Amino acid sequence: MLQGKKILLGITGSIAAYKSAVLARLLVKEGAEVKVIMTPAAHDFITPLTLSTLSRNPVLTQFAAADSGQWNSHVELGMWADVFLIAPASANTMAKCARGMCDNLLTAVYLSARCPVIFAPAMDLDMYNHPSTGSNMTMLEGRGNYIIPAATGELASGLTGQGRMTEPEHVVSYVNQFLDRHNSLSGEKIMVTAGPTREPVDPVRFLGNQSSGKMGLAITRELSLRGAEVKLILGPVGQVPVIPNTEIFNVVTASEMYGVSRKIFHDCKAAIFSAAVADYRPENVLSQKLKRKEESIDLKLVKNPDIAGELGKIKTSEQVTAGFALESSNALEHAREKLKSKYFDFIVVNSLEDEGAGFGHDTNKISILDKSGDWKDFPVKSKREVAMDIVDHLAGLL
Ligand code: PMT
Repeated sequence: MLQGKKILLGITGSIAAYKSAVLARLLVKEGAEVKVIMTPAAHDFITPLTLSTLSRNPVLTQFAAADSGQWNSHVELGMWADVFLIAPASANTMAKCARGMCDNLLTAVYLSARCPVIFAPAMDLDMYNHPSTGSNMTMLEGRGNYIIPAATGELASGLTGQGRMTEPEHVVSYVNQFLDRHNSLSGEKIMVTAGPTREPVDPVRFLGNQSSGKMGLAITRELSLRGAEVKLILGPVGQVPVIPNTEIFNVVTASEMYGVSRKIFHDCKAAIFSAAVADYRPENVLSQKLKRKEESIDLKLVKNPDIAGELGKIKTSEQVTAGFALESSNALEHAREKLKSKYFDFIVVNSLEDEGAGFGHDTNKISILDKSGDWKDFPVKSKREVAMDIVDHLAGLL
């Protein structure tokens, strides 16, 4: 239920604006107080009269109301709301929000809003898939906004693909879940390790792995949404995102990751070890680039610290730790072993045998094995949703 929640509903110029009428009605039915802001372009698709009737509040479009001359303060609107939901969000409005342009009331409210902002995009499939739109959405998410991915189906253009605004019922359930989770871990310090590590061979080469960091970053975003103070120890993943409530420590090698983790861990209530850490590193790092002379060379490797295992040994009874097991066979057996040897409270198992699971994908398929012996399987989901399941499990233990 959304009883007593204040929802600012932003509507932009898209054919999906007709869905906003149902959305406004459903939000009011759930007990929310709804105020609607429309961009000028939204008026071409739906009338303010429909939305003011359904939301039971005047609809706002201009900085000043034409008839009364009354000022619609973008600052006050942004402070009034518990959540600013922009649905449908056109490519144009998302681009303006990403770049900080505010040539209408909706975009000005976006820039001054202190509440969380959720976008439900709607546009044609080629616009949705355009790198510019993709980079705007990434930028918006990186700044702590939330995006409900567009659904796939028939589009107004007659084409079929991803771009439809997700159905109003789904948006309402997203908002419900969102507000339940939002700030539910407020004040908890949580450490996350994420991404790959790289072990140098010479000044040019390294031993690494295929982790993109997506899983660990999704966990970090979920913890941040829930209000946790996150300490993210991140291996080399390219562009480092900005995530609210999150302090990021960039590291390269397993030894560096261990050094930083050791300093931070004692002060944290929980830790999630999602990094793909190199178990071995070259014993000697060459100071000059290795030349191509010999037919074969021997590279002697020595063991890296087991970060989760070492911290597991010093963890207090108050602290909760969760690890991952990336397996290519006998997942349950190996996971049980790691759960025990690394003193985890639970372990998230993902197997390279499953389609859409593991490295690089935007999806993952996990099972959670608890130290009590409980085993729970989940279907393939987006890494964002997988992160929700993992953090739900963690929250249950805190
Ligand atoms: O980054 P993505 O592309 O999104 O991919 C996600 C992922 C596949 C990397 C992630 O889901 C995952 O499985 N991470 C753990 C990978 C791994 O190294 O698993 P492992 O079974 O080798 O290690 C077991 C646990 O010990 C892990 O929690 C690991 O972080 C930790 N470990 C391992 C070795 C080491 N020296 N120190 C550690 O802390």
